[in-house]
Amino acid sequence: AVERTLSIIKPDAVAKNHIGEIYARFEAAGLRVVASKMMRLSDVVAGGFYAEHKERPFFPALIEFMTSGPVVVQVLEGENAVATNRELMGATNPQEAEAGTIRADFASSIDANAVHGSDSTTSAAREIAYFFASSDICDRD
Ligand code: CMP
Repeated sequence: AVERTLSIIKPDAVAKNHIGEIYARFEAAGLRVVASKMMRLSDVVAGGFYAEHKERPFFPALIEFMTSGPVVVQVLEGENAVATNRELMGATNPQEAEAGTIRADFASSIDANAVHGSDSTTSAAREIAYFFASSDICDRD
């Protein structure tokens, strides 16, 4: 089915100038960028986005990292977009990510892991609504 998923290019990948290469991978895999913005996350916005991780030991480091520089947030649309994007990203820990994935090629640690992608269509709906109004999303069907 055609799905949408929320993707974030994290501060490490933006700082290393990999925005275009990461977009090229989305597009080569048949995902369309249907909404996009660069922004600097505040503690409140990053904390709300990652609210499900609030009690995890890595939460403070996660928020510190995600607010350390600009990110690029996008909605990707396409056939099985959630799973397709997760395959493109590779494992959360870049040390475990398969060769040729975004994280294997561009990420350096589990915190600075280049990209975020929704883990289910349910999360995608919440995460997309967190950053974008429906009117921000440009239908390309
Ligand atoms: P992301 O997909 O953005 O979701 C939560 C982030 O927390 C994750 O990517 C990692 O960058 C970061 N993180 C740090 N430590 C861990 C961990 N032990 N398990 C999962 N995520 C972690």
